[in-house]
Amino acid sequence: MRMEANPILVTQPSIAPLSELIPYLDRIWATGILTHNGPLLLQLEAELSRRLGVADTICVNNGTLALQLAIRALDLRGEIITTPFTYIATANAIAWEGCTPVFADIDPDTWNLDPVAAEKAITPATVAILPVHVFSAPCDLERFQVLADRHKLRLIYDAAHALCVDVHGRSLMSYGDISCTSFHATKLYNTGEGGACFATRPELRRRLRQLRFFGHDEHKEVVDDGTNAKMTEIAAALGLANLRHLDAVLERRRQLGELYIARLQGLPGLRLQRFQPGQYNFSYMPVLLPSEAELLRVIEALATLRVHPRRYFYPLLLDTPRFRSARTVLTPAADDVARRIVCLPLYFNLQEITVQRICDAVRSVVTQ
Ligand SMILES: Cc1ncc(COP(=O)(O)O)c(C=O)c1O
Repeated sequence: MRMEANPILVTQPSIAPLSELIPYLDRIWATGILTHNGPLLLQLEAELSRRLGVADTICVNNGTLALQLAIRALDLRGEIITTPFTYIATANAIAWEGCTPVFADIDPDTWNLDPVAAEKAITPATVAILPVHVFSAPCDLERFQVLADRHKLRLIYDAAHALCVDVHGRSLMSYGDISCTSFHATKLYNTGEGGACFATRPELRRRLRQLRFFGHDEHKEVVDDGTNAKMTEIAAALGLANLRHLDAVLERRRQLGELYIARLQGLPGLRLQRFQPGQYNFSYMPVLLPSEAELLRVIEALATLRVHPRRYFYPLLLDTPRFRSARTVLTPAADDVARRIVCLPLYFNLQEITVQRICDAVRSVVTQ
């Protein structure tokens, strides 16, 4: 098999051509406005809201702070039930806001927090549920809302992976009390570093805007316990330029993702994430190998082609020194998935021939 000329990494950021960024930068240089609710930020928020069909987009400087602001805007104190199969930022955000993350198991097919396990984890100290739309596959939205209503809990979605996924004709960002996403460089759509909160209730939206701006209200009065989570004008400029390419990025990822699926589906013991057709943005290409030993052999086989997939999310949060002591219930599905999962390369400029070579290498291991 031919070696790749350059290493193929698990992802590469999608960036608009520099020439498309320059007119926005010219505007920044002309006005001298670098931050503080500048015109480019306001334009980006309006364009994102239009694109997503949501009432309002509150941009912040990263997805972790988006989660922290959401927790603070809802005045949460106590236990927040979440998934151990996520990036560390989800649980860190909970802990940084003085709450306790309580981990419950995932569904073995969607890899999202299991509503039944989440319900079992509820105690008198529980104040919220914080599920993650892992790799953009929507959580069980109806059941989580029923659960939240029945137990009078708040519902925050970590939608860091899930931009541009609609369910029942509505953006995933419009579910729960607040949804939070990330515009980090490695995400489907990026502003370098960045993120956003989405809330359906106007009073929550006002609160989130205050919290991201040191607690100032629209008259500059300090009325809230805020922080600095503002997005800069340079990040907003990159966001506006990248937004022009979002549809092309989504389409290319879908094509490559479907090529992966066509070539990998049905391989002995190999499983793909379960999602409904059309409800996935292909921001990742996760595959579950039959065993950890085969996963390691796949990684080795790909390394000889200079292809570098990523074990994501691994280790499980409950196996990290940070959250090991939070292992209070059994999480067999999450333990199993974390050990056998690998995300294969998927990004805009990836070539079909590379996808085919990667799939051939995976096939050669699992059919041995
Ligand atoms: C599931 C999840 N939640 C939260 C975050 C945090 O986002 P950010 O890197 O923008 O802080 C990330 C990614 O980095 C993530 O993958």
